[in-house]
Amino acid sequence: MATILAIETSCDETAVAIVKNRNILSSVVASQIKLHQPYGGVVPEVASRQHLESINFCLDQALEEAQLDWGGIDGVAATCAPGLVGALLVGLTAAKTLSVVHRKPFFGVHHLEGHIYATYLLEPTLKPPFLCLLVSGGHTSLLHVQDCGQYEMLGSTRDDAAGECFDKVARLLKLGYPGGPVIDRLATRGNPEAFPLPEGKISLPQGGYHPYDCSFSGLKTAVLRLVEKLEEQGVDPLPVADIAASFQGAVVRSLTKRTIQCALDYGLDTIAVGGGVAANQGLRKTLQTAAAPHQLKVYFPPLRLCTDNAAMIACAAAEHCDRGHISPLTLNAQSRLKI
Ligand code: KG4
Ligand code: ZN
Repeated sequence: MATILAIETSCDETAVAIVKNRNILSSVVASQIKLHQPYGGVVPEVASRQHLESINFCLDQALEEAQLDWGGIDGVAATCAPGLVGALLVGLTAAKTLSVVHRKPFFGVHHLEGHIYATYLLEPTLKPPFLCLLVSGGHTSLLHVQDCGQYEMLGSTRDDAAGECFDKVARLLKLGYPGGPVIDRLATRGNPEAFPLPEGKISLPQGGYHPYDCSFSGLKTAVLRLVEKLEEQGVDPLPVADIAASFQGAVVRSLTKRTIQCALDYGLDTIAVGGGVAANQGLRKTLQTAAAPHQLKVYFPPLRLCTDNAAMIACAAAEHCDRGHISPLTLNAQSRLKI
């Protein structure tokens, strides 16, 4: 398998990694979280500017850590979509330039395909078909992974992504950004049964509910109404740990139910979980417990591979490189693109 240097700049992480044979030779991630924290979310212009500031340092660092020069690199990859266009363009332009200068093939990688490939870095012998539950700040999807480049979207959120909902609820509870890790920690001290919250089912025109699609905007509104009600009742301080545990419980129930149902319906015996929300302790425990009686294997990559990184992009590109799927240099960044 090829040795690939990849760049990931789709959101607020400037990342460069070198991967060979599904082995990480180096993985550098310069997080911008501190820069965006005062704004309570990612500011696109600030993100693009910071990627420009960080990219050269990250490239040098990745080559140094891998103890390689350009002679040891077989191809250059970058995330091309989906994401913030200005942010994507920094990584994409850097990768195309390096591919021309060093005469290496170029590979544009879909960000979600990268998240799928994170599990191959954990489990190099993993083979399709399997089900991937992708839960991040921008996406909530159930993907049937059939082969390299062949993915069928079986379910997704109809509104907010799971991570986005964690971030919005955390903002509402004045817990800061990003919200997922704070809510996750608080939830361990709270009672998940304290407040009943809705699951977010999608009604079908013919009656009944969609088995795999979900919705989180109603849940977010339900938490808002709950907080307003408690404040009207003069409850002070707010029982934030119980609210966090009840909210997280509702998200985890919704994701677990759909993922298990989908794996069983499609006869898939392996579930790979990816994206920032895969770091959630409640989701890890509940999904593993629910999968066990059905003999379903569940893989949760380590945290550094769940959140945005370039190793997952390099791993996907290495497989495309082996299959001769080279991308044209005319490939452009796109804010939205189906996998
Ligand atoms: O995959 P990621 O790093 O970036 C995107 O592609 O979106 O995911 C970031 C998201 C944020 O919304 C963050 O709040 C959420 O992942 N997150 C978590 C946890 N850690 C990060 N959500 C729940 N529990 C966590 N422990
Ligand atoms: Zn991501």
